[in-house]
Amino acid sequence: MRRIKTTCLLWCLSLAAATAKEVPQIGNVLARETVSLNGAWNYIIDVQEEGYYDYRMNPTNSGFFRNAKPQRPEDLIEYDFDKAPTMQVPGDWNTQDDRLFFYEGTVWLKRSFDYHQQAGRHTLLYFGAVNYDAHVYVNGKKAGHHVGGFTPFNYDVTEMLRDGENTVIVKVDNKRKAEAIPTQIFDWWNYGGITRDVLVVKVPETYIENYKLELQKADVNAKQREITMTAHLNKPEAGQTLTLTIPELKVKQQCVTDAEGNASLTLRIPSKRLSLWSPDNPKRYSVTLASDHDVVADSIGFRTIETRGKQLLLNGKPIFLRGISIHEEKPFGGGRANCTADAHTLLSWAKELGCNFVRLAHYPHNEHAVREAERMGILVWSEIPCYWTISWTNPDTYKNAERQLTDMIRRDQNRANVIIWSIANETPHSAERDLFLSRLSKHARSLDSSRLISMAMEVTSASNYKNRLQDNMNEYVDVISFNQYIGWYRDVNDAPKMEWEIPYDKPVIISEFGGGAKAGLHGPKNQRWTEEFQENLYRENIGMIDKIDGLAGTTPWILKDFRSPRRVLDGIQDYYNRKGLFSDNGEKKKAFYVLQEWYEKKK
Ligand code: GCU
Repeated sequence: MRRIKTTCLLWCLSLAAATAKEVPQIGNVLARETVSLNGAWNYIIDVQEEGYYDYRMNPTNSGFFRNAKPQRPEDLIEYDFDKAPTMQVPGDWNTQDDRLFFYEGTVWLKRSFDYHQQAGRHTLLYFGAVNYDAHVYVNGKKAGHHVGGFTPFNYDVTEMLRDGENTVIVKVDNKRKAEAIPTQIFDWWNYGGITRDVLVVKVPETYIENYKLELQKADVNAKQREITMTAHLNKPEAGQTLTLTIPELKVKQQCVTDAEGNASLTLRIPSKRLSLWSPDNPKRYSVTLASDHDVVADSIGFRTIETRGKQLLLNGKPIFLRGISIHEEKPFGGGRANCTADAHTLLSWAKELGCNFVRLAHYPHNEHAVREAERMGILVWSEIPCYWTISWTNPDTYKNAERQLTDMIRRDQNRANVIIWSIANETPHSAERDLFLSRLSKHARSLDSSRLISMAMEVTSASNYKNRLQDNMNEYVDVISFNQYIGWYRDVNDAPKMEWEIPYDKPVIISEFGGGAKAGLHGPKNQRWTEEFQENLYRENIGMIDKIDGLAGTTPWILKDFRSPRRVLDGIQDYYNRKGLFSDNGEKKKAFYVLQEWYEKKK
């Protein structure tokens, strides 16, 4: 008994000694000094969480996170990561192991790596995303716990690492929960796993945690433009000099941090020297921000986005958003997309359609995709998964949603192509919902007043061909966006007769419309699932939508057929939502050309 007490005491002491702490998301991680932990990770499928709870369902301190090995012949250790199969990280488990195709539960993933800590430097362990609930351990000790499947998080693990071999173990659980974000039901595949990059990030003890550059709005004929820069150190250190350099703009300017470690400056640039970012001119400038001990390089474009009545103005000029909705799924055969190549293929398909805009639905997509869109001149709508009926009155649910919103904005705040933050999709009207979402809208504005706020609303009433949109959230958004499925879920072939009443002096985006078709299935245009039915639906919807007063853009549902557990029609859906303009094998459907033709006219 005394020996057990001593062991526990020693263990707690070592725990106390080598603690990690979750630190705010480091900005622009891709430009930092990093070691990638992407690659093969061993995994153990743990349906009953044997590796986390004892048989009384109390968390055990001899769980799988200890990566224990028998020391003596009689020792009983009933798991061994090094004998376990491997899967690729980043990646979902559903498409890498047939046993896990439908699996929702816990899987443990382990990766060992050699590491030599440099004196005076700190080490962060960064995850691009883990779906959904992640307990992270380093060398058998808890680094932290994170919920939310689509945003980055990182821990300062400096004190947990040892010189030589180190081990990271992550307990990942993607079970759906009512109080979660997203909630229990959603029309996409619940891909589980470490779905984005894992990086070991080497930083100075005091580093530039994050920064934001923003072109201030001005009259289109202004002779001079102002760019503001705000930056934040990871520590409240005053007196550090920050130097911002933009060689192409002949900029080299300094500012000094205050007691909170914040610093800011304003650049004044002759307008004729500044090339503004736009889809036709996706100009980005090489920017370097240096502090006394740290330096970060980035490629940043400058543009303004605003509304004036029902007009949407990019760089002060009206723009029509020729968009398409996209899920974060690999171009071919399903699975989470997670790299530039995946994004480039999907975005090239959108470009072929004639798009200058994409709605990344219904959750923040990976950073590679957003940056690739910026390079390709494609504007972005980015969204958090407050999808359908969320637990509006649960304070933890609100905190989770707000955290995801914060992390989405903090990651992409310097991306010129990101113009809209969306806080929700198809949420039922109630006072609780309005309170929840209005708080999110205010929060987003407090973090970033340079972009527009929106959400995908729903048509409120429709009778006698009169469609009306009435939503209390109209005052908390800059753009009125809504989904409508005339021709599919209702009023087949009635689109030409429809009238719209949208009583708000704001730009309108149709954030979803469309219908399903099985690629290669042909027949009369009133035959469901044929390409002709979808083609006709698009033709009729476009005719209707084009007449809507204040229409500033649209993002039809959807670029490509995507996996969904809600789509069970054998021989047609086979667990795919078939509303894509491309099939899951990249084949174009007839409706593709209808939209392409319209967008050509909208240029
Ligand atoms: C909804 C929802 C999408 C869904 C689509 C559909 O509007 O926002 O996530 O996939 O409709 O029914 O296909």
